[in-house]
Amino acid sequence: MKYNNEIHKRRTFAIISHPDAGKTTLTEKFLLFGGAIQTAGAVKSNKIKKHATSDFMEIERQRGISVATSVMSFEYKNTLINLLDTPGHKDFAEDTYRTLTAVDSVILVVDSVNGVEEQTRRLMEVCRMRDTPVIVFINKMDRDGKNRFDLLEEIEKELNISLHPMTWPINSGKDFKGVYNLHDKNLLLFTANTKATDEDTVSISDLSLPVLDEKIGEKDAAILREDAELLEGVYGELPVPDYLSGKVAPVFFGSAINNFGVKEMLDTFIRIAPVPRPRPTSVRDIPPTDDKFSGFIFKIHANLDPKHRDRIAFLRVCSGKFERNKYFHHVRLDKDVRFSNPYTFMARDKDVIEEAFPGDVVGLFDTGNFKIGDTLTEGENFFFTGIPSFSPEIFKEVINKDPMKTKQLEKGLLQLTDEGVAQLFTQFGGNKKIIGCVGDLQFEVIQYRLLQEYGASCEFRAMPYYKACWITSADPKKLDDFTRFKSNNIATDKDGHLVYLAQSEWFLNTERSNNPDIEFHFTSEIH
Ligand code: G4P
Repeated sequence: MKYNNEIHKRRTFAIISHPDAGKTTLTEKFLLFGGAIQTAGAVKSNKIKKHATSDFMEIERQRGISVATSVMSFEYKNTLINLLDTPGHKDFAEDTYRTLTAVDSVILVVDSVNGVEEQTRRLMEVCRMRDTPVIVFINKMDRDGKNRFDLLEEIEKELNISLHPMTWPINSGKDFKGVYNLHDKNLLLFTANTKATDEDTVSISDLSLPVLDEKIGEKDAAILREDAELLEGVYGELPVPDYLSGKVAPVFFGSAINNFGVKEMLDTFIRIAPVPRPRPTSVRDIPPTDDKFSGFIFKIHANLDPKHRDRIAFLRVCSGKFERNKYFHHVRLDKDVRFSNPYTFMARDKDVIEEAFPGDVVGLFDTGNFKIGDTLTEGENFFFTGIPSFSPEIFKEVINKDPMKTKQLEKGLLQLTDEGVAQLFTQFGGNKKIIGCVGDLQFEVIQYRLLQEYGASCEFRAMPYYKACWITSADPKKLDDFTRFKSNNIATDKDGHLVYLAQSEWFLNTERSNNPDIEFHFTSEIH
């Protein structure tokens, strides 16, 4: 329990949303509160612009910026907050899913006009797999949004989570007057485009007081009184343990662009959000309070300079103390490694650090030693589990265009897939290389980077598969038979695990029902 104080100071989380719901804007407001940035607009440039999806320079530019904003650390009210960035673009969804393994909680932004959208659903599924505590921020209340009760019902139903309103809006769109804080019992009056000050907050311990009518008008005051009574009756106090176990999500209403309702959420966040949580490993759950250091790599980022293939591996510290220049054990390679220039991400700049504690993310320079999912320890031989690899949805065969550069191509493919850009499969019994991705954009990135960084030129040939499932069976003979029988649809992943490539949902379902002894898995743990 040596580092108890350090552990209790830290909150590590991510903001997630469907693109355009307001994640970037909210991130920026958080950083302003934390004093980590001075001006609005600083985080904006991190987005891949919608219309520039096939513009390589845009991808490259984004790659550079996103190293700097991958982790944003700042202090707020004596709490050290590590905010991990997640790419909003759906083609990079896998990167987001893996980042979610490195956080202890999330804030989910929902657009009040659009409600629950495609990406929101998928992101929540990933959170649910790990029982990650979720706070919901319903954004853009300054627009004519859906009815607030309908919206809550939609979120509860679609995302399969119980909600607990913490603030309650008074109208929306041009009639939006503010939010009533059900927990603190005060009214926050909406002022567009300004930072809400204390003057805009009215403390109302008793909603029946006439001050409410004065501030928001009789009609809205009557509605609010009715709503508040109803909500209090239904919800009562937030059951914090249920939030921490991922069963109940507190909800805030606001407008990120107007910095409205954001501080209320941030204040609640530091009050209730979990401190670094224990993590499952191959041997036991490792609590953050373990004296010995341990951590895992959840993201690898290539450097921008194509001449040096240095990469940055992102290490989430899970227990003990990480120290500069100290030897740690790289479990997969069974070798001891040390880092002379580990760095931290205190917003603006990267700073070399001497030490880091559970909940922190450290950037390590890497020349090819790391893969996503790798574990570092202080000597023990275990590895962190639960870092998923998702079933890709687009498959293409790699066609080598320059036989003189075969070695470079192979090396490039291995390294890029180590980074988690895509998954690499090898045709069963052959050597056809197949790349599987979640989005089309990745193929362009791979082709471009193979040429730029490895001098290897390739083309892709589309393959008619829609899903890859990892297959296992308790009966090795059955697995063997299935593999031989279906060899045209079988490949191996980089770790040699068998994968069934299905042409369509119909084929997949047919094989599943015809082969009850074979298990089809849609995610594979990296180990
Ligand atoms: P994202 O990271 O989730 O993709 O969303 P982002 O913050 O970039 O916000 C998407 C758009 O929604 C932006 O407008 C942003 O200004 C706007 N927005 C964010 N919060 C609010 C809000 O509370 N109310 C309203 N009305 N709009 C909001 P844009 O036109 O796409 O970008 P920009 O030209 O303003 O930069």
